[in-house]
Amino acid sequence: MTTGDVTAVTVHRLGPLDQVPVGEGRAYVVNGVQVAVFRLRGGGVRAVSAVCPHAGGPIADGQIDEAVVVCPLHQHAYDLVTGCSPTGQPPLRTYPVHVDDEGCLVLVTDGTS
Ligand code: FES
Repeated sequence: MTTGDVTAVTVHRLGPLDQVPVGEGRAYVVNGVQVAVFRLRGGGVRAVSAVCPHAGGPIADGQIDEAVVVCPLHQHAYDLVTGCSPTGQPPLRTYPVHVDDEGCLVLVTDGTS
């Protein structure tokens, strides 16, 4: 019998969803790593690494729609689900995030962040 690698996951409660205004992002430090959490106008939430791979711009301050965030420094775009950049930059890391029954943002890391 073969067993696969089991990677430990860690659940992080980031605080109330209301900390993030609708249509905006906020940066959190999770395990010493900056993570940008966005609250979409359609009701969803997304989480990606908060430091732009192009030149270190503050991704949490970027403009968003339902699909992408645009870095405020040089306007490179990143897909909020995959982290991939349609403008040719290295990808952002993405994180599973949801809102629990108490209205709290919950982010999951897998030990590699
Ligand atoms: S630092 Fe983000 S696009 Fe240049």
